[in-house]
Amino acid sequence: MIKAVRGTRDLLPPDTALWNFVESAVREVFRAYNFQEIRTPIFESTELFARGVGEETDIVSKEMFTWLDSPLIQKALLNGSPQHWPIPVMQSVEEALSGKPDSLTLRPENTAGVVRAYIEHQLEKRGLNKLFYIGPQFRRERPQKGRYRQFFQIGAEVIGPKSAGSESPARDAEILELLATLLDRVGITGWTLELNSVGCPADRARFNEALRKALEPVVAKMCADCRRRAVTNPLRVLDCKVPEDQPIIETLPRISQFLDEGCRTHFDEVQQILQSVGVPFKLNDRLVRGLDYYTRTAFEFTHGALGAQNAILGGGRYDGLSEALGGPAAPGIGFAIGEDRLVLSLANSAEDAAPKPDVYIAPLGAGMNRDAARLARELRRGERNLVVELGDESFRLKKSFEAADKLKSRYILIVGENEVKAGAFALKNLATGEQVTVPRAELADRIAKP
Ligand code: HAM
Repeated sequence: MIKAVRGTRDLLPPDTALWNFVESAVREVFRAYNFQEIRTPIFESTELFARGVGEETDIVSKEMFTWLDSPLIQKALLNGSPQHWPIPVMQSVEEALSGKPDSLTLRPENTAGVVRAYIEHQLEKRGLNKLFYIGPQFRRERPQKGRYRQFFQIGAEVIGPKSAGSESPARDAEILELLATLLDRVGITGWTLELNSVGCPADRARFNEALRKALEPVVAKMCADCRRRAVTNPLRVLDCKVPEDQPIIETLPRISQFLDEGCRTHFDEVQQILQSVGVPFKLNDRLVRGLDYYTRTAFEFTHGALGAQNAILGGGRYDGLSEALGGPAAPGIGFAIGEDRLVLSLANSAEDAAPKPDVYIAPLGAGMNRDAARLARELRRGERNLVVELGDESFRLKKSFEAADKLKSRYILIVGENEVKAGAFALKNLATGEQVTVPRAELADRIAKP
């Protein structure tokens, strides 16, 4: 049997009803805050993530699904050669031939793609862009509860030229307040907003230097990743999860000691707006986030119900990302919610969210499928927006009742020869057992009644 690949999963009914509930609630919230949807490709050039997210991050150095899309491979594919499968072989041939492979990667996140699109389509002409996206992302992580290799993010980015106000702390606070509203709207309580400022590049350079110095005498005792990062990008040492390294990490300098005047004022203003709108937060100066593009505000919302993978969403400001990707200055801030985790922390049950038929139409006897189909069409296309399930004339009445019960239909409607002739149908309420005969023209209204 062929099974879904490790770390991927099928979303089945009734769970998909919860996903749809979340997505439509979220779309309403985005609408209220005047965000518009953007859809970028699911794969991009590897270089985008290497430059955008950062080569020393776990995401880029360990977790990306990357492959070569060289002319050689394309040729093998076009020739229909079944031997094109072992792509790594092609990769080495290609590398040997050109030394410059075309490397592609399934997106591990969507901010780099959105900023690429911003630059490519000169979206700065539109002033402040308020964009949102919903879609799959891919990271080769060790799968566990709340952590998958294909997972879904609901994200948003606010990006534009400085003159459009993109750098203002008001944007940061608005994003955070939007998130509080969004979580309330889908019914998630008990979240914690952890907030930090990771400063501007100059602050980070000084912080990195201080980390480097502090690490020198102790790093020999740390894991291999830390030893490498202590040299290449000391900030990333703070991402280390190895338990034995934590006591050392605890003693390292903190970013809050390195913020310049501008970053401190910006951060203060974000906090004051949050206080004024009543969004609670917790300061955490160890929160540096696992992606290199962040500047100033960085945040995560965590939720107790999630266990080890407790970050329901994360985000922050990335004022230099556009320039790093070769674009114009375009300060921005955004977030991405792990939709899988959001659904996991919902209190509602999938069964309750799943749609139930208003009526189950039971054709009774040979030849009745035709009349039943006509009636179903009338009811489904009518103004009442009814959910209609259609049975089959081969079912005995008992079987139709069982089917209607199993689907939790509110009504069952019998379509037999006599009913069609009379133009009136037996309609039974499956909860109360009450049965009435209803003229064809009144059926929709009667079924729609609560
Ligand atoms: P991130 O923190 O890497 O940020 O991911 C955001 C959220 O995606 C996480 O908090 C988590 O809920 C979810 N997530 C990440 N990896 C997995 C996984 N393997 N399985 C399930 N859920 C996962 C970003 O991706 C940034 N692009 C967010 C952002 C947007 N920053 C600025 N704008």
